[in-house]
Amino acid sequence: MSLTTPGNISRNTSPNSAAPAPKPELKPIPGMRKTVKITPAEVQLFSKYIYGLCGINIEASKSYLLETRLGRMLENEKCDSFTTFYHKIKSDPSKKLEHQMVDAMTTNETLFFRDTNPFELLKHKILPEVFDRRMGKSGAIRIWSAACSTGQEIYSIAITLRELLGPTPTINLKLMGTDISDAAIKQASYGVYNKFEIERGLPQERLQRYFSPSGETWRIKDEIRSMASFQKFNLMGSFASLGKFDIIFCRNVAIYFTFEDRVKLFEKIADVLEPDGYLIIGATESLTGVCPRFVPKRHLKAIFYQLK
Ligand SMILES: C[S@@+](CC[C@H](N)C(=O)[O-])C[C@H]1O[C@@H](n2cnc3c(N)ncnc32)[C@H](O)[C@@H]1O
Repeated sequence: MSLTTPGNISRNTSPNSAAPAPKPELKPIPGMRKTVKITPAEVQLFSKYIYGLCGINIEASKSYLLETRLGRMLENEKCDSFTTFYHKIKSDPSKKLEHQMVDAMTTNETLFFRDTNPFELLKHKILPEVFDRRMGKSGAIRIWSAACSTGQEIYSIAITLRELLGPTPTINLKLMGTDISDAAIKQASYGVYNKFEIERGLPQERLQRYFSPSGETWRIKDEIRSMASFQKFNLMGSFASLGKFDIIFCRNVAIYFTFEDRVKLFEKIADVLEPDGYLIIGATESLTGVCPRFVPKRHLKAIFYQLK
């Protein structure tokens, strides 16, 4: 029996053949994308460009990310090199391509109740303390998810609040989710998740209680959706327009920035945090040596930061 390659070339399988069988010429598999290779000069060009847009630092060893994440865009834009693509993005007055490039280069990995501990901390320590302090005072309690991705983090906070305060809280709460990715913030504001996303971090009981099925997807119920507002925001920019927050979640985003940018980011966060406010960062992150204005504190298994 002769085997056939995808290019439909018979392979000689006879053990007695004197000469080695000629190597089959590999033809592209129909529908398979041809990857445009990036040159070292183009790596530099794009790394600088992307860094300038969102502060994401693409290390030389990770330059393959440019090829893998931008390949589809190059194909859609019919560009046969990264240089052509660069000029096309730069000359797009609508900035649509630039936004798409940022969407492609950001890592939006997230899940509901990610790492569990921050939400236990919120429920058992932070929120009761904040409510006590605010008792009888005017003004909203403001909570910010500073890189909210597709919304799972801010909705986990909203669900925690809902479970603590019931359906008609007398406390004035304002939850804000921001992210630099247009696509992520759009999904966050719709609150619609596919089967894979909804199954990550949400037990059945919460799923049934706070989401409604909508075709193949699940939509967050209005009672939770309406607790949060969303906006596009670049953490590399000025925080002057933001006002002050009682609680800030800034998790798993600073890991993509240079050390210098991390220092600047947490300085700006310190400026917008209320004097007795709370900062929660990612489980693998630390502010030691990054921002001396913060002190780490522990509650049970969770670490949080407060201003000195
Ligand atoms: C890995 S997700 C983290 C989501 C969520 N905080 C969590 O921990 O599950 C990182 C998010 O940071 C966003 N991001 C990256 N650079 C940013 C910037 N300069 N300003 C705002 N958001 C940024 C990305 O778009 C992405 O959605």
